[in-house]
Amino acid sequence: MTTMSDPFSAMLDALPAGLHDTLQRRFDRHEGILRERLQRLYGHLPGHDAWYAALLAEVGRLMAARPAALQALDATRERQPDWFCAPAMLGYSAYVDRFGGDLRGVAARIPHLRELGVTYLHLLPFLKPRTGESDGGFAVASFDDVDPRLGTMDDLEDLAARLRAAGISLCSDLILNHVADDHPWAAGARAGDARLRGFFHVLPERDQADAYERTLGQVFPEAAPGNFTFDAEMGGWVWTTFYPFQWDLNYANPALFAAVALALLRLANRGIEVFRLDSTAFLWKRLGTDCMNQPEAHTLLQALRALVAIAAPGVLLKAEAIVPTRALPAYFGTADAPECHLAYHSTLMTAGWAALAEQDARLVRAVVDGTPALPPHTSWLTYVRCHDDIGWKHLLPEAGDIGRLAAVADFYNGARGFADGVAFQGSLATNGTAASLCGLRHGDPEAAVRRVLLLHALALAFGGLPMLYMGDELGMVNDHGYLLDPARAHDSRWVQRAAFPTDAAAGPIYHGLRRLIALRSRHPDLAAGVPCTALETSDPALLALARGTRFLGLFNFSDRAVAAPGGHVLRPWECVWLDRESGEPLI
Ligand code: GLC
Repeated sequence: MTTMSDPFSAMLDALPAGLHDTLQRRFDRHEGILRERLQRLYGHLPGHDAWYAALLAEVGRLMAARPAALQALDATRERQPDWFCAPAMLGYSAYVDRFGGDLRGVAARIPHLRELGVTYLHLLPFLKPRTGESDGGFAVASFDDVDPRLGTMDDLEDLAARLRAAGISLCSDLILNHVADDHPWAAGARAGDARLRGFFHVLPERDQADAYERTLGQVFPEAAPGNFTFDAEMGGWVWTTFYPFQWDLNYANPALFAAVALALLRLANRGIEVFRLDSTAFLWKRLGTDCMNQPEAHTLLQALRALVAIAAPGVLLKAEAIVPTRALPAYFGTADAPECHLAYHSTLMTAGWAALAEQDARLVRAVVDGTPALPPHTSWLTYVRCHDDIGWKHLLPEAGDIGRLAAVADFYNGARGFADGVAFQGSLATNGTAASLCGLRHGDPEAAVRRVLLLHALALAFGGLPMLYMGDELGMVNDHGYLLDPARAHDSRWVQRAAFPTDAAAGPIYHGLRRLIALRSRHPDLAAGVPCTALETSDPALLALARGTRFLGLFNFSDRAVAAPGGHVLRPWECVWLDRESGEPLI
């Protein structure tokens, strides 16, 4: 006998009879984790059971409202849960305005994406941003409206459907950690709404903020020092990990969790197939710690994943946690309690660049060795560049010495050698496009092209879903125009956010990348789940990656010719992919 507050009945009542069996199956499989995790986080609070039933009733309504095409996608992907691990998967990340002008303009670029082999498109934030500077849209003022400069919700649905028809899944950021200070939640809190005030962390006394500051790091130490911003209307210090206008959300409050989870499911119903969960490492605060990678952040992700598995199982979650290698695998969860399907392999990316500067592949080898096998149906997201900086400090466990990383940073930031990078927030981070950091404008352009291809070959061969960054396929170089904009001049990440070079002719980088992408797409050993091993080599500049029985990738990270096993001699910065059995180059 069920009662009104029985969660299963609450969901069932919201669904048409045709979905009852589906719900029953998914509920049996995932609700146990969901209930247990939310009980762990919020069970001690009064009214927890009623809150939980009300949440599931809402989830049921959103499941019922899910368009038929997306329900069909859910069913297909439930049958093939590793669909995104195939070697033919390829990601691409772009800003809507710079890539296509607006959402309709992005649709017009589908032929370019298809020609490259893209199957997954991450569009950087396109929801309504804060008025004024918004950290490139990462300060969101509404989860339910598109930035009017980029289009409408109808345009978004239309783009998602067109991409899907072209075999491309649309990925959107879901900025979990904070909202803009002009989001209605923040505005309401400022106006005195006690319920909304509870969505944020507000510390009445500076001493309280100082107690946390003693162990917190800083994300933007120069542009936004400290982690708290005094707000007179809030009567205290608001937690602002990033910019002062990005207010951290309080996940110790179940009402906030429900509000964000439901926003995710509403966007999923618009056709978003992948959510890039921004800044996942920061979701839970604990005094005396750096408030990163806390166990509760993982509990939250497990609950979110279970909700998605019940209401929209075709959707993928991707963790953006820029943390040391040892802290990364936890974002996948376990086979019994999964979290994200995908996570950025940020230290592999950073190690590739460090190896190029040091002309020594050993940091990459250390990262590969420190990367464990993943739970089933999960994959790394591998990449060379993205819209953010390269933060060198996360490689400290592998490098062993901050001085070593400072030297790498100097190499890229100091216009010494081939690289043309820009320092960011102190000197332990670097900005610049792939082509500029590889020296396309300095010295031998052919060597620069080989360096760009070498790093992309690593991202394509390691094992994961590789992602290209807008314009890198055309050798887009740094754009210093941001220095003329007072709102952006302090943030050198804008140097790699130029307009897509529509007039650039497809050159050797483009052709080289297309060749590698095609080779990868037909090679079963390059599927995401196949283990990757770094083999011993006699030359420290040489990286040898074995995948399965048939793939061997050789990468020369130096400016000299290097002899490799099997009689191969690699030119400076060259990469060769071989059939591991025959020793012959892949064709
Ligand atoms: C993520 C984004 C970055 C942004 C930050 C705050 O790290 O990639 O661009 O500044 O989150 O939202």
